[in-house]
Parts: sequence; C-alpha cells; structure tokens
Amino acid sequence: MDDSTGYDCEQLRVVWDRQSRARVLVAVHDTRLGPAHGGIRRWSYESVAAAHRDVAALARAMTWKCALAEVPAGGGKAVILDRPDLDRAAAYRLVGRIVESLGGAFYTGPDVNTSAEDLRAVAEETAYVATDARDGPGDLAAATAEGVLRATLALAGRLGRPVDQLRCVVQGLGAVGYGLCERLAARGASLSVADVVPARVASAVTAFGARAVGVEEALATEADIYAPCALGGVLTADVVRSIPVGGVCGAANNVFADGAAIQAAHARGLVVVPDFVANAGALIQGALWNLRRERVGVDRIRRIGATVEEVLARAASDGVPPHELALQLARERVERAGATS
Ligand code: NAI
Repeated sequence: MDDSTGYDCEQLRVVWDRQSRARVLVAVHDTRLGPAHGGIRRWSYESVAAAHRDVAALARAMTWKCALAEVPAGGGKAVILDRPDLDRAAAYRLVGRIVESLGGAFYTGPDVNTSAEDLRAVAEETAYVATDARDGPGDLAAATAEGVLRATLALAGRLGRPVDQLRCVVQGLGAVGYGLCERLAARGASLSVADVVPARVASAVTAFGARAVGVEEALATEADIYAPCALGGVLTADVVRSIPVGGVCGAANNVFADGAAIQAAHARGLVVVPDFVANAGALIQGALWNLRRERVGVDRIRRIGATVEEVLARAASDGVPPHELALQLARERVERAGATS
C-alpha cells in the first residue's frame, strides 16, 4: 500500500543532531527483492513533515525502479534538511553512521545537492556508499544515457519512426543529456537542444549538428520525441495537451507534475515512457557492483529497451497509461518475491 506518511516503509529513521544542526531522515521502503538502494538528497524542506513525505515517496519510487530493472535490490533514500547554519560535513558523516547502523540493508550514493566531496564524508563512516573511488562501479551517468537511448529507440519503434529519420528535442545537456545526444546523433537522428548554460548548447551544435532552441521554446518545438534531461515536473496537464511531439522519453525523475497530467497525456494519445524505467542505467550498474562486484556490460543496460517495449505494448492493449502499467508490473514483481521469501 502506498502511504503518504511513509508508514509503508520497513524502516524510517529520524535523527536530530544538535551540534551539527542536522536533521536527517533515512527510509528503507522495501527489501523483499534485496538490500535497499537510494541516494542522499539535501534540500531545504518547509517542515519535517514535508521531508518525511518526500523521503518515503523517493524510497518507494526506488523500489519500483529496482523491480522493473530486474536488479536484486529494493528502495531507500536519505534526506538532510538543509539550513544556512548546517555543518555540512558533519551532516553527511551522520548519514554515514545511520547507514552503517543498518548493517547492509541500505546502500547510498548521490542525489540532488550531494557532491563527490559529501560522499567522501559519508564514506568516513560506512562502506555502504558509492564514491568516485577508482575501484568503483564506473561511469554511472553514461549507463543512464545508454538506458535512455534504448528506451528512446523502443519508443521510436512504437511511433513507427526509423532512428535515422527521428527528430528529438533534448532538454538539459548535462552528464546524461549530452551523452544521449552523442548516441542519437551517431545513429543519424536530428536534434534540437536546450540548456540554461549557453556553452553546453554551443558544444552540442558543433559536435552533433544540433539546432539550438531557447529554454522557453523547447516545449513548443515540433519533433517526434521530447527528452527531458534537466528537472522533473515538466509535464503539466497543459503541457501534455500542447507539446507538438508524439512521445516523451528522458532521464528526469518524476517527469509528470501530477496525476492529472498522466491522465491528460493518456487522453491525448501522447506516449510517455515511465521515467523510472528509462533512467535505471545508473541503478543497474551501481547496484550490481555493490551487491556482486559485477561490472555490467552494455548488453545488461540494453535490456531497458525490451522492458520499455513490453510496457508500451501492454499499456496500449490494456488501454491504460504506461506509467500505471509499469507501476502495476513493479508491484507484482515485489509481491511475488515477498510470497517466495
Ligand atoms: P546534470 O546536473 O549533469 O545536468 C542537468 C542539465 O540540465 C544541466 O546542463 C543544466 O544546466 C540543465 N538545466 C537545468 N535547468 C534547465 C532548464 N530549465 N532547461 C534546460 N536545461 C536545464 O544532471 P544529469 O546527471 O545529467 O541528470 C539529468 C536528470 O536525470 C536529472 O533530473 C537527474 O535527477 C536524472 N537522473 C540522472 C541519473 C544519472 O545517472 N546521472 C540517474 C537517474 C536520473
């Protein structure tokens, strides 16, 4: 059962450390498929209750992501309530001690506002953390870009567009978006690109022959596929009614602003690949390294494409939004694992 309070989580730790002024919440949502995985988000929440809701929702989403990526892992997340007088390094060390006390039930890593330096502070207290150490899982953003590419190719197939005739708008040219452009351009797709950093746009124009579009213009640019690779929440009900594309597939988490947008996309026939299926590359590569010291090859990441094909085909035949179908599949997999454990 999804529970906005977080009481569907197996464990929820809330810790206040007076000295560092750090309030930290760590949620382990579900470990029926394996140890929980999820990053650390540092954010200035309006209240502890808001942080509580967010950490539970983020941990829950990780459970569904693991289930669909077929990795033997579950969902977790940590949040630090940001404040101007926070002792940042001490706050991350505190997260490290909580993670260590969970004894391997939760592996953590980066998320919004958590840097490589922050993760090194976590690693002072626990080994259950992904850092940029040389003996680590490798380039996680590249794995995400490869997974989003495979998901995009599956969507293009559904839309009946050969890749060398595909027109994509990529919003956000960071680690994932730029890598996605590189892969699409190599297959002959034509690109329109937008970023708030002009140098990144200029670089994509030169390297891939992409067309630069303004940040405001991106959602109004005609194409086959829109690829959100910046922030979540870009698909509001108004946007999905007007965006001049046939489908959406990108890396940004929680791409729908709300449930109304999911229904509006479905009513209009806009095919939206669930973000938690498309962007699982980093999770697959990171979790299999953590749990088995396995270096996954590109073939393992490519399976994301087959999962997207299955989700889109079943959603179309059942007449439901792909997002709902993917959630249903994920819940079934977790329940099945629970029944046999
Ligand atoms: P990043 O921080 O490297 O890149 C984000 C890019 O978006 C930057 O170039 C930034 O300038 C640009 N941007 C910000 N606001 C924008 C706007 N309004 N319009 C256009 N561009 C804008 O992030 P990264 O790692 O490439 O991740 C992209 C998205 O994918 C994020 O939402 C992230 O949470 C998600 N994601 C990333 C994973 C990874 O492995 N890095 C894994 C799963 C999800």
